[in-house]
Amino acid sequence: MKFFIDTANLAQIKEANDLGVLDGVTTNPSLMAKEGIKGQEAVYNHYKTICEIVLNGDISAEVVSTDFDGIVAEGKKLAAIHPNIVVKVPMIKDGVKALKWFSDNGIRTNCTLIFSAGQAILAAKAGAKYVSPFIGRIDDSGWDGVALIEQIARIYSIQGYDTEILAASIRSPLHIIKCAEAGADVCTCPLESILGLLKHPLTDIGLAKFMEDAKKFS
Ligand code: G3P
Repeated sequence: MKFFIDTANLAQIKEANDLGVLDGVTTNPSLMAKEGIKGQEAVYNHYKTICEIVLNGDISAEVVSTDFDGIVAEGKKLAAIHPNIVVKVPMIKDGVKALKWFSDNGIRTNCTLIFSAGQAILAAKAGAKYVSPFIGRIDDSGWDGVALIEQIARIYSIQGYDTEILAASIRSPLHIIKCAEAGADVCTCPLESILGLLKHPLTDIGLAKFMEDAKKFS
């Protein structure tokens, strides 16, 4: 399973990248706004900087248009920023049409705001490179996000779809583990969930004892 970081914060992207386990970055309009980036030029420069930090990783940049012509025009501009840009398109009717257009024209896409298996089938049919089920938001609404990942993985395997399942809206290290178990191809996570995987109290206790004992022979 690939690890993406779900943020537009450059310091966090650098920290995850320095760890050596980062395969890409996902952003969305809310995450960009959180960084205080304003204006199209600034937004595009920010994407470029992210691409220059995470070399060889896919970087999702989301369109903010909701009509077919607007999505295609915006997606073309985003894709031109850097070869590693993946155009993120919402799961709406014009979005599906645009996914097909991008796929026919060699532009890779990430279909976002996926909350059902039906939406994931449609995105795969339209040729999306990635499909992003929001598992945390599904859990928040009393449904089971990981179960959706399992269902999509089963369907894609039966049907032979190439679209990769990118589990998004991750809330915890346990979500990452469960997504790996459920067959996600990618997990996009906040930095703290990635770092949370490191933690175990017995590791800390064990290391403290090793360090203590090391003093006896050093
Ligand atoms: O990138 C989209 C997704 O990961 C959003 O997560 O935490 O806003 O539900 P969240």
